[in-house]
Amino acid sequence: MPTLTIDGKAFPFEGKKMILQVALDNGFEVPHYCYHPGLSIVASCRICLAEVAQPNPRNNNKLELIPKLMPTCQTPAADGMVVYTNSPKSIANQKAVMEYLLLNHPLDCPVCDQAGECSLQDYSYKYGRAESRFEEEKIKQPVKDVGPHVKLYSDRCIMCSRCVRFTREVTGTAELAVFGRGATEQIDVFPGKALDNELSANVVDICPVGALLDKDFLFTQRVWYLKETPSIDGITAGGDNISIHHNNGKVYRIKPRTNMEVNKWWISDEVRYGWKFVHDENRLRHPVRQQLGGPLESDWARAIEDAATGLQHAAASKAAAAPVPLPLREGLGEGGAPNESSVPGSASGSPSAPVIAVIISPMLPTEEAYLLATLARSLDPAALLIVGPVPRFGEDKTFPGGYTISAEKCPNARGVRRAIQRVTGDQNVTEYAAGLARLADKTTTVKAVIVTGNFPTKWTTKELTDALKGKFTVVIDTLPSDIAEKADVVLPGATWAEKSGVFENAKGRIQSFEQAIAVLEGARTEGQIAFDLLAACGFAPPARYDAAGVREQFGGPLTTDVKHPVVYHEVEPDMQYVEL
Ligand code: SF4
Ligand code: FES
Repeated sequence: MPTLTIDGKAFPFEGKKMILQVALDNGFEVPHYCYHPGLSIVASCRICLAEVAQPNPRNNNKLELIPKLMPTCQTPAADGMVVYTNSPKSIANQKAVMEYLLLNHPLDCPVCDQAGECSLQDYSYKYGRAESRFEEEKIKQPVKDVGPHVKLYSDRCIMCSRCVRFTREVTGTAELAVFGRGATEQIDVFPGKALDNELSANVVDICPVGALLDKDFLFTQRVWYLKETPSIDGITAGGDNISIHHNNGKVYRIKPRTNMEVNKWWISDEVRYGWKFVHDENRLRHPVRQQLGGPLESDWARAIEDAATGLQHAAASKAAAAPVPLPLREGLGEGGAPNESSVPGSASGSPSAPVIAVIISPMLPTEEAYLLATLARSLDPAALLIVGPVPRFGEDKTFPGGYTISAEKCPNARGVRRAIQRVTGDQNVTEYAAGLARLADKTTTVKAVIVTGNFPTKWTTKELTDALKGKFTVVIDTLPSDIAEKADVVLPGATWAEKSGVFENAKGRIQSFEQAIAVLEGARTEGQIAFDLLAACGFAPPARYDAAGVREQFGGPLTTDVKHPVVYHEVEPDMQYVEL
């Protein structure tokens, strides 16, 4: 394999790659601003320049130093090449570039949102000089509102042109451009045309300095207080890899996590800002049950007891219903797939008229869907298992850069179907429209329904409200709704940021995500609620919900095909830790 040496370290590489790319792929830091792996190479910032020696085939392959510094971002790596980013000449260039970039920079790090994650700040510390020799007046440039999500602090810009290339190459919308020349050159939008495309806020992520900032995150939190939890898009079926940035139980922002097989380096604005319902002030915060002719706040024990009693009552109305052995009865979380013959509903001779139905929301992870389906089939071997409504708007939209916005606005319809198939042993699943029609049918035998929601916005319809009339209803949801108002029992659920699990995206990729923040006080995860109901109905001992344990029980692809997030390396602190 061809090998390249950078500052004395040998790096083997494959295919056609630039020197900088080989270095970065191997975790070796070479300073760079204008280079971004998802954009064309312009080699304009000049900080990545280094001394390069390469074998000359016309001189017996003797190593010869190229007389001028070479841009490592634009120089193809070659076998036997030797690169010096730490030679006196390279260091002199790094210092000169830094001094030049800081000439007109306002040096306002204390009030800049990018402080703490700014390449200019980092390189200034590493490659800059301690004092400025510039005595003239700095050129001042305005702060511009360039789009619905983005603000431009022009005088912090280093003209790397990443943002301009992004709007040309990735979104194909070209709203941003370089205006003016020389020292007054600046980034701007064309008159009357805002930076307003579905991926617009990615320019904030790729801006190496604090020039392009996210209006939504602006001045809300210093970045060094934020913790990052790897997660998966919980809003659409795209399965984008994201990081949830949070502090003290509050989500502050969502950033893309690079995954070349899914979302590359990008996320849509819809995914980036779609988390607001997690902290919606109207979140359901306590169980509610019908008492004295109206809904009353309740404690969890009474609400679970009421729900279990109502469901059991409905189940008991079916004379032929025989107790069904459960895979969850023993050893939940202790590993081992359940015995096929013990899967509820797979027993032959079950009476076919369902008395219990469950609507399983495609917003829930597969583990929770599996538990809810198991609960329903434990109560009634013929229980009607319905996939909740799958919102779809228009068609998938693919951008020139390859990123696709999924038209399906829920993260796990396929996982819910998979869970239902696992429990019933039948490949046919009841989709929402058909399920609703069966519930609404005057001849229906269904007497009790568990309804789960967890959608970011209002999702219930008059058809659903009508279909639930006259039936014992348990609603598990995060936000208030018409059906919650009328339900016999309401149990507050938890959003995806408050739990862990797996989602299966539109392409059938099963990806796990971690719990980022604690469950809202007064709410419980749907998985825990299913466990509590299983225990209250006498099907399983009380247990604590654990997504990994449920995956073990589920078996099959949930134990073999799940893609887990790449474990991040600890970042070495660049300053000495001082005990005070
Ligand atoms: S605004 Fe940021 S990304 Fe755009 S050219 Fe300036 S520094 Fe680069
Ligand atoms: S990163 Fe190479 S010139 Fe900018």
